[in-house]
Amino acid sequence: MVDRPIAINEPDVLSSTQLRDLVALLQAVVTEGASVGYLRPPDDPAATLYWSALPRPGVRLFLAESAGAVVGTIQLHNAESANGTHRAEVCKLLVSPTHRRRGIGLDLLRHVECAARDDDKLLLHLDTRVGDPSNLLYQRAGWTEAGTIPAWARSTDGTLEMTRFWYRDLRHPLE
Ligand SMILES: CC(C)(COP(=O)(O)OP(=O)(O)OC[C@H]1O[C@@H](n2cnc3c(N)ncnc32)[C@H](O)[C@@H]1OP(=O)(O)O)[C@@H](O)C(=O)NCCC(=O)NCCS
Repeated sequence: MVDRPIAINEPDVLSSTQLRDLVALLQAVVTEGASVGYLRPPDDPAATLYWSALPRPGVRLFLAESAGAVVGTIQLHNAESANGTHRAEVCKLLVSPTHRRRGIGLDLLRHVECAARDDDKLLLHLDTRVGDPSNLLYQRAGWTEAGTIPAWARSTDGTLEMTRFWYRDLRHPLE
């Protein structure tokens, strides 16, 4: 396969092509067993309903696109409480199984860090299943491990799994 340049975009409204690609991406990652909120792959209407609600006030959506196709995505969710306006949660970092290990996940994470800084955010946080490769990505990106909670979420096979929480204090530059 020929590597094509990746652009990270933040659409105001999703095009029908972007929506279609995001539906397929979500279904693909859940099918392979990723822990991203679903017990089984959402069918087309459910997945379309999910993505159609994005972006929205307080939630920014970023897409990694290559040759007109969505190959990755990430979200930034502002904290809603009055005492947490400096804080946001990074959600649903997904990279297409056909485009892994090319730095797209790391690029999306770096991009969202910059976007959060532009929004005057000081603290980012996220959680991910213990044992998943995503932990290696967050470690590599210089995020700090906050700890784990057992039985946080069910896996697609129904097992209760431990989740690790990570944060990034944007007041401190990376070493
Ligand atoms: C986790 C995920 C987003 C990584 O995306 P990616 O584009 O393949 O990641 P990158 O290529 O940017 O990887 C950056 C670094 O993270 C680490 N890493 C990422 N995936 C890894 C893997 N499968 N095994 C080991 N290290 C891995 C490596 O250090 C890698 O650098 P290297 O390739 O130079 O060794 C992708 O595997 C995915 O979509 N998984 C399913 C959904 C999911 O679990 N999302 C996280 C929800 S919190």
